[in-house]
Amino acid sequence: MQPAKIAPRIAPRDRLIVALDVPSVAAAEAMIDRLGDSVTFYKIGYQLGYAGGLVLAKQLAGSGKKVFVDLKLHDIGNTVARGVESVASLGATFLTVHAYPQTMKAAVEARAGSGLKILAVTVLTSYDDSDLHAAGYRLNVSDLVEARARQAQALGVDGLVSSPEEAAALRKIVGDQMNLVTPGIRPAGSATGDQKRIMTPARAIAAGADYLVVGRPVMEAADPKAAAEAIHTEIAQALA
Ligand code: C5P
Repeated sequence: MQPAKIAPRIAPRDRLIVALDVPSVAAAEAMIDRLGDSVTFYKIGYQLGYAGGLVLAKQLAGSGKKVFVDLKLHDIGNTVARGVESVASLGATFLTVHAYPQTMKAAVEARAGSGLKILAVTVLTSYDDSDLHAAGYRLNVSDLVEARARQAQALGVDGLVSSPEEAAALRKIVGDQMNLVTPGIRPAGSATGDQKRIMTPARAIAAGADYLVVGRPVMEAADPKAAAEAIHTEIAQALA
């Protein structure tokens, strides 16, 4: 299968984002040392972010790494805007927000003039139609994902987070202008864990993903550096 989209503006080695899903800055720093030059882009989520990880994010960005702050903001517009300004001042590259129009609009306006890009989470991948109905929505998951992707694009959001299975459909909806960032990546032979909708790195790239978020297959590997390098090789082959 040929890649749905070639995006030469992204350095191939920046397409792998390793999720630093660890409980402490010390554990994160030990892993960053082990990974060395094999990883250029790290994701910091709730677990590490609320345990000192935002100070680490600033240090990582200062040392030349790229940082994805995955804190999925959602609040009144003014509060979102001030939070986005603070994350931009860390030197982060990506920040997630939930795909509500007010939230996306405030985030996009607040990141203007910085190097920060806003990624929208359309519908959490743990939600199915019955979860949406229980939360008071009338739309099903696929219709809400599509509606929110269109709203995100219209509001100037820089990218979307999606499962790799949604990537090809989203690429058709939003075209080439938005970054698609996909977790749920499992190299052949690695444990699935709790992820249900998974793809290999090569298949996700072929489906149109720009960036692959990988946690446990690298973080829990016997040789994390070798695991990261194997994923780079697979990405490069998929893009060739
Ligand atoms: O260990 P694993 O590769 O499954 O980690 C995937 C990372 O992507 C985790 O940090 C997880 O929180 C995040 N993520 C996800 N699915 C989403 C959004 C984020 O797995 N829909």
